[in-house]
Amino acid sequence: MSKFRVLLADPISPRGVAVFEEGGIEALAMPKGAAKGDLCARLREGFDAMVVRSATRADAEVLASGVPRLRAVGRAGVGIDNVDVEAATRLGVAVMNVPDGNTLSAAEHTMALLFAMARHLPQSFQSLREGKWERAAFTGAELHGKTLGLAGMGRIGSRVAAMARAVGMRVLVHDPYVSPEQAEKAGVTLCSLDELLAQADVLSLHVPLTDATRNLVNAERLAKMKNGARLVNCARGGLVDEKALFEALRSGHLAGAALDVFEQEPPPAGHPLLALPNFVATPHLGAATGEAQEAVGFQIAVKLKKFLETENFEDAINVPFRRVPEDWKPYTKLAQTLGAIHAQWAAGPVSALSLSFEGAGLDDVRPLTCACLKGLLDAVTEGGVNFVNAMQRARERGIEVKESTGVSPRSGYEGLLRVEIRMNGGTGHVLAGTILEKRHPRLVEVDGYHMDLEPAGILLLLENRDVPGVLGRTASTIGTHGLNIAECRLGRRAREEGRALAVFVLDSEADERTLAALRAIPEVIGVKQVRA
Ligand code: 3PG
Repeated sequence: MSKFRVLLADPISPRGVAVFEEGGIEALAMPKGAAKGDLCARLREGFDAMVVRSATRADAEVLASGVPRLRAVGRAGVGIDNVDVEAATRLGVAVMNVPDGNTLSAAEHTMALLFAMARHLPQSFQSLREGKWERAAFTGAELHGKTLGLAGMGRIGSRVAAMARAVGMRVLVHDPYVSPEQAEKAGVTLCSLDELLAQADVLSLHVPLTDATRNLVNAERLAKMKNGARLVNCARGGLVDEKALFEALRSGHLAGAALDVFEQEPPPAGHPLLALPNFVATPHLGAATGEAQEAVGFQIAVKLKKFLETENFEDAINVPFRRVPEDWKPYTKLAQTLGAIHAQWAAGPVSALSLSFEGAGLDDVRPLTCACLKGLLDAVTEGGVNFVNAMQRARERGIEVKESTGVSPRSGYEGLLRVEIRMNGGTGHVLAGTILEKRHPRLVEVDGYHMDLEPAGILLLLENRDVPGVLGRTASTIGTHGLNIAECRLGRRAREEGRALAVFVLDSEADERTLAALRAIPEVIGVKQVRA
């Protein structure tokens, strides 16, 4: 039986399916047009990942049906507005998409709609089919010399800009994320949204659907467009207020509009726009080319396979950090280990965690925080903690998280990770670690005691009065209880205070009797056993 199972809620290319199959991953396809209830029932059978295109809504109910086994949703395409990312994050499900694979197809389809609309291609073909030969009725408009207004110039918008320029159009762009240098390089002119609306002969939308962009083109903005202008939406349904668009087309204020996407897909029967002579539409075909489907199917399968096999969350769009530089990855593992030690050491619920990292080259400490929270909370959290939901799980438990970074370590180490926890009531513990030679983890501080120890295996932390003979007595107590000591380290605090810490690495776990015998030694202040 395959180790991993992936549910294909929407079909993907055979090349994508082959990635799963060749990787020994079972890929099961939902039947075409399956109802939401059937999808939920399937997910409850246990799948590690699910693949969707725009036809499937991965809402909170669907996602919840899949957990705890469901760990990732892969969108074979770019738009993720059909995935409830907030719910996925809450449930610890990674969301991935493939923003590149269908860029060209979507840009070409935008241009196809532009031409189709300007030259009445669908309408004239329909008339011809009806046996007519109407030439005057379908007099069109040239694109050359006209102004194309792009709302958004990301991947697809940039391609459209280049194609439109090749046709001889002047391209205006409204996009707060595009710099003047980028605009100059692309040969476009940046402007405000109002200027775009006022000057565009054709307005084309290239922004994702978010709360901020919903109904971006509403009645008020349509009114600001030139008389006789045209609109193309090959991006997302919901960006255009369809009722307002209907009015603008019916009144003749707009000469034409072309939509590839609708508020509701498929649009309800008898949708008023479909009856208008100056309206052109396709059924969400922007990415529907053999090339794009092959690319997105393959790319999402590769991402999901990698994720399932490595638990590497870097491709997820709902993790709260950017990529971690390769060199600093051992610190992520160390952070998790320190979190796990704290979890076992803490005498009660943790109320605050403060993590600081000193060292050059890591400006985003969040992956370490997530890893540390995973170590701290995984064992006590139903459904587990991962990089996607770690911050959320901390919030739910009322843990105040503080993070800080400093470039140059005061310690002399190349990097120093320090994790302090506070319990309700104010008591707490501090652990600090470093990575030697880029790969060897070292525990270098335990509650202010200096150390140098690999945090691995069974550790016995033994705080004692700093007087002669304690080490001998504790070691012999461990020995007489039949335990083998693999390693031992002693540490003192910088300020002399008559206390010391001994850390024993044991070959096997000490039982309660052994721990009680150690606590009974008069010089012993405290004993704690943890598994690192
Ligand atoms: C996308 O967001 O990638 C496109 O809208 C394509 O959607 P589709 O996968 O349903 O064709």
